[in-house]
Amino acid sequence: MEGYIVKILVTGVAGFIGSTVALRLLMRGDHVVGIDSINDYYDPQLKRDRLARIAEAGGDRFAFEQVDFAHHEALDAALADKAFDRIVHLGAQAGVRYSIENPRAYLHANLAGHLNMLEVARHRGAEHMVYASSSSVYGGNDTLPFRVEDRVDQPLSLYAATKKADELMSETYAHLYRLPQTGLRFFTVYGPWGRPDMAMWLFTKAILEGRPIQVFGEGDMRRDFTYIDDIVSGIVACLDNPPPDDGEQKAGGSVSPHRLYNIGNSRSENLSEMIALIEQACEREADKELLPMQPGDVRDTFADISAIERDLGFAPTTTIAEGVPRFVDWYRDYHGV
Ligand SMILES: NC(=O)c1ccc[n+]([C@@H]2O[C@H](COP(=O)([O-])OP(=O)(O)OC[C@H]3O[C@@H](n4cnc5c(N)ncnc54)[C@H](O)[C@@H]3O)[C@@H](O)[C@H]2O)c1
Repeated sequence: MEGYIVKILVTGVAGFIGSTVALRLLMRGDHVVGIDSINDYYDPQLKRDRLARIAEAGGDRFAFEQVDFAHHEALDAALADKAFDRIVHLGAQAGVRYSIENPRAYLHANLAGHLNMLEVARHRGAEHMVYASSSSVYGGNDTLPFRVEDRVDQPLSLYAATKKADELMSETYAHLYRLPQTGLRFFTVYGPWGRPDMAMWLFTKAILEGRPIQVFGEGDMRRDFTYIDDIVSGIVACLDNPPPDDGEQKAGGSVSPHRLYNIGNSRSENLSEMIALIEQACEREADKELLPMQPGDVRDTFADISAIERDLGFAPTTTIAEGVPRFVDWYRDYHGV
């Protein structure tokens, strides 16, 4: 609509995916209100650097509030004078392994936090809330590729359990309040401005520092790696297309305005292939320390993306052979190594 300003609330805006989504929205002319607690799960300086990029690109079309959305009074106060039509809820406590060490962080951010964002969406009359789930909800599912119609009742980690719980809470709000929502099960996202706790970052860092890399599952693991720009295209396509409240069954099975999609590359790549690409980009060979699977880990992930392809024409375009060197180049440039 000409002249119509779209205002979007992005949670976890200082995070890897949230910051890249905010940039894309600002680049196309939308207004973005971003919130983030800037917690110290990993180096907050990286989060501040991401925010600085967004602020530079967005100018007065970008507003930021530092707030913990698990505290509903603080959240309501932070948003009281902010206008927005749609929400992209990407803030969360991420990471499978850390949920063994600090389970309460997941209860706080992913359960109380998700409920608070649902309440915001409901009371502010949001047209659509797109939120992050995770491929980890598939647990040890051994029918590959993973389909949104598969049952997901056996999570292998508390992280996965909280993401599945988010999908259930969202379904209730879609049913009771007809709140349009899209839940996205992301598959191992990587790329520039990525997350320091993820394998690709840890391997790159260790290889460049001449330290051994710890390869879990003896390297016999497969992941559906998804390049950040492809994920962001999928998120924005969803944001622009709220599910209609027409009583028809949606992807994932809901008859309320609630869709569930996988967003992956729809290729399952061997961990050793990913390591070989990092070695190539770093021009160094890795010293590999082969270790058993870690508790909570899943051996294979592989996304069936036919639902989002069919409904929204989503098609990932970046292979790991293209994406891994882009990540390594960014890593070296950012750290000056
Ligand atoms: N990166 C992946 O491979 C991947 C895969 C599956 C799902 N996801 C999900 O996608 C979303 C984004 O992930 P990411 O990789 O960008 O993670 P990230 O950790 O880089 O970003 C999350 C952001 O949320 C913020 N946050 C956490 N708790 C908060 C709270 N209570 N209040 C306000 N802000 C809070 C953090 O400070 C952080 O900046 C998460 O929901 C994550 O679970 C990511």
